[in-house]
Amino acid sequence: MADALVLGIETSCDETGVALVRVTDEGSELLTDVVASSMDEHARFGGIIPEIASRAHLEAMVPTLTRALEQADVDLSQVDAVAVTAGPGLVGPLTVGAAAAKALAVGLDRPLYGVNHVIGHAAVDELVHGAFPERVMALVVSGGHSSLLLVDDVATDVTELGHTLDDAAGEAFDKVGRLLGLPYPGGPHIDRLAREGDPTAIRFPRGLTAAKDQARHADDFSFSGLKTAVARWVEARQDAGQEIPLNDVAASFAAAVADVLTAKTIAACRRHDVDTLVIGGGFSANSQLRELAAERCAEAGITLRIPPIRYCTDNGAMIAALGAAVVRRGVAPSSLDLPVDSSMPLTQVTV
Ligand code: KG4
Ligand code: ZN
Repeated sequence: MADALVLGIETSCDETGVALVRVTDEGSELLTDVVASSMDEHARFGGIIPEIASRAHLEAMVPTLTRALEQADVDLSQVDAVAVTAGPGLVGPLTVGAAAAKALAVGLDRPLYGVNHVIGHAAVDELVHGAFPERVMALVVSGGHSSLLLVDDVATDVTELGHTLDDAAGEAFDKVGRLLGLPYPGGPHIDRLAREGDPTAIRFPRGLTAAKDQARHADDFSFSGLKTAVARWVEARQDAGQEIPLNDVAASFAAAVADVLTAKTIAACRRHDVDTLVIGGGFSANSQLRELAAERCAEAGITLRIPPIRYCTDNGAMIAALGAAVVRRGVAPSSLDLPVDSSMPLTQVTV
């Protein structure tokens, strides 16, 4: 295969990401990755406002692209293929990225690939730790997703084993953060408090781990019951006029989330005879998850791959990485009238 230069564009939420990846016979090499975030504009609302995110993508798109090309010392005419997030995500933000990618594909007369954001969170690890072995398990955890994927070929063959039935892991952290009075997003604040607390202080429930749930929901997650349990515990203390031991609540809550995520994921690895686990998505920054995953993977003889944090949060490199895998595999390009799909199925790598 001749070398190919793949441009990746990500706009599914609040990050405008543009990256360039070179595909060679040896694998995929990241040339540059530039991200502009509108998070600061959403913080005061306590959540992402799609209209604000869309406008921010519209304004950041060309400057972010220009910076990426400059950093890589590449001319736009050298780009061989354009990959863009087609879903899942917020429709308005996705549309801005797709429109830009279509304009580039038409203007440059190059193929366009609409790819899956969540699978991109796993694929980005190939840029860091090399090509995936034949079969890997991927746990993608963020503010929007908590999904367990069996990846036989990241470009063509992904099976969604399970997902959260209610809140995503990061979302649960953000909601518990709010009830503990922490700033948005609460995830990193709870992580910090939890490091000072006792994870065994309070025994919070582990969702979908009871024997009766094993048949139907072995690979699914649920965090809303846990969130409610934390709220009840805090309310009872407040009603009794007692102080809330924030560190212990945070540590016990974080321990429950990390316990369920790692126990279910490792059980799935065993069941499917998989010995490599990739963890991606913004929530993989979480210290309690990282520590417990490392400990339990070592015990189980599973190789654990987690990309550096900047490639776990939303970025263009993940989309360029998946675009590169798709190009390398010879997958047919997407149609230039490709739609965006806010709930794109996780079995669908490309549109
Ligand atoms: O992937 P991401 O940047 O955006 C989404 O696509 O959602 O993930 C952000 C989510 C937020 O919910 C944030 O609170 C959570 O990940 N998060 C953390 C940590 N860092 C980010 N949660 C717990 N501990 C952390 N260290
Ligand atoms: Zn994401």
